[in-house]
Amino acid sequence: MRAKARAHTNIALIKYWGKRDEKLFLPTNNSLSMTLDQFYTETVVEFNPDLKQDKFILDGIEMNPEETAKVSRFMDKIRRYTGQSHYALIDSINHVPTAAGFASSASGYAALAAAAMKASGVSFSENELSIMARQGSGSASRSIYGGFVEWQKGEKEDGSDCYAVPILEQGAWDLRVLSVEVTHEVKKVLSREGMKRTVETSPFFAGWLEAVAEDLVEAKAAIAKRDFIHLGETLERNALRMHATTLGANPPFMYWQSSTVKVMEAVQALRENGIHAYFTIDAGPNVKVVCQPEDEEQILDALSELDVVQNIYRCKVGPGVSYLEG
Ligand code: PMV
Repeated sequence: MRAKARAHTNIALIKYWGKRDEKLFLPTNNSLSMTLDQFYTETVVEFNPDLKQDKFILDGIEMNPEETAKVSRFMDKIRRYTGQSHYALIDSINHVPTAAGFASSASGYAALAAAAMKASGVSFSENELSIMARQGSGSASRSIYGGFVEWQKGEKEDGSDCYAVPILEQGAWDLRVLSVEVTHEVKKVLSREGMKRTVETSPFFAGWLEAVAEDLVEAKAAIAKRDFIHLGETLERNALRMHATTLGANPPFMYWQSSTVKVMEAVQALRENGIHAYFTIDAGPNVKVVCQPEDEEQILDALSELDVVQNIYRCKVGPGVSYLEG
């Protein structure tokens, strides 16, 4: 009736951008990520027959009814799937710099899904776990696994073939990610709303779908050959293509700030000096710079000098979900 799980965040090298079914969190395209070692969530779920409703504690603070209702809706999906009938105490600690605006929904829903499925007492496969996590936050489907991970969009309407699969294990390729924080501000257009508006109104969305399919093939080929420059060029191009769709939306929107662009320019300047660094950006202004271990210090030094940079977090390739005692 009680279980504890840990899940790490991931950074998409090929982006998930667009849903074909909002209720089931079915994406319009496959995506590909690298799990990070630095940022993770630990969650305890305890089903308890005495509870009259779910109780959600985050970082030691009991959440308000609105936040709890969101998590409760997700717990309802777990209850329906596992046949568990009791309400639960959910106690979660986010080891993610919360003020930094780094997405914690991936690690959060992956850890919650894992702890809840385990606590329910049913046996389940990793595919099933990925499917459950997906229904909390799409990117959470990928955080089930460590290393490099592909989330397959699947073909079926019920989403039963829409889950992530590992494509390269954690220790197989030592890449680094510098998470560059340029602002503490909370994002203005949440990813859910941003995707919806883009799918419904951006004439560039059709182009995105065509491009992302090609980028995915390139990225997988680069990973198979451990060809960093090929992967870097592909992931940076894919991020720019995703962000281009938002400029075509109605009303248009943009996740970048001037500080974001300064970091992008600095990465391009590093490359002009022969250093292999490539950037990617999610639904917010912070920038992630992907590089190889031998270039990390030099890139860190160069980016630290920018006055727009507030913090840089150094990440390696991280592990998948684990279950903990206590
Ligand atoms: O899973 P969500 O709703 O947090 O959406 C994630 C969207 C991006 O971060 C922009 C891309 C991705 O694949 O993670």
